[in-house]
Amino acid sequence: MPLPGANYLPFLALVLCVTSLCASRLNVPRVLLPYNHHTPTNFTLKVYNGGCYQWECSRQEVALLVGLEEDGCANEVVVSAISRSPTRQTAIILAQDSGSGDVLRCDVLVDTIHHLEIITTTRELYEEEAPEAFEVQAYDSQGNQFSTLEGMEMIWELETLTGLESSAGPQSVLR
Ligand SMILES: *[C@@H]1O[C@H](CO)[C@@H](O)[C@H](O)[C@H]1NC(C)=O
Repeated sequence: MPLPGANYLPFLALVLCVTSLCASRLNVPRVLLPYNHHTPTNFTLKVYNGGCYQWECSRQEVALLVGLEEDGCANEVVVSAISRSPTRQTAIILAQDSGSGDVLRCDVLVDTIHHLEIITTTRELYEEEAPEAFEVQAYDSQGNQFSTLEGMEMIWELETLTGLESSAGPQSVLR
């Protein structure tokens, strides 16, 4: 005997698919990019489950769309944070589906990095131990995390704990 609800399952799956999974959407609804005077940071916006989109940016002096062909459509675009102002700047990027006319939106914020945090499981490394990854995350003055730090140069320094004998210089263990 079939289960009572069995006939509804394909229908339910279809509804879920239509309302969430299969709808066209951008990989992010909002990006926070670091202001970098020398090398603008780039971030790739992508449309999931989408067709072909025409892209436009409300403020070209804040964020530039790179690599678009004129009159062409694409399902991804590189956003370059070219803002020349260290204060918070915002721009809106709209992507319109050439076929259906659907519009997707992404807010781009370009702001100065306020502080950095190192994400790691340990702050003390011992020789001959398994390698440890150190990741840096950056935040604005309100504690919002930046979407990427691509293009930002970091100087890493390790300190040898005082009072402990170390045969390896701190810099020799960095990769
Ligand atoms: C971002 O893209 C621009 C233009 O393509 C390029 O000049 C710049 O070097 C890129 N930034 C980084 C961090 O690679």
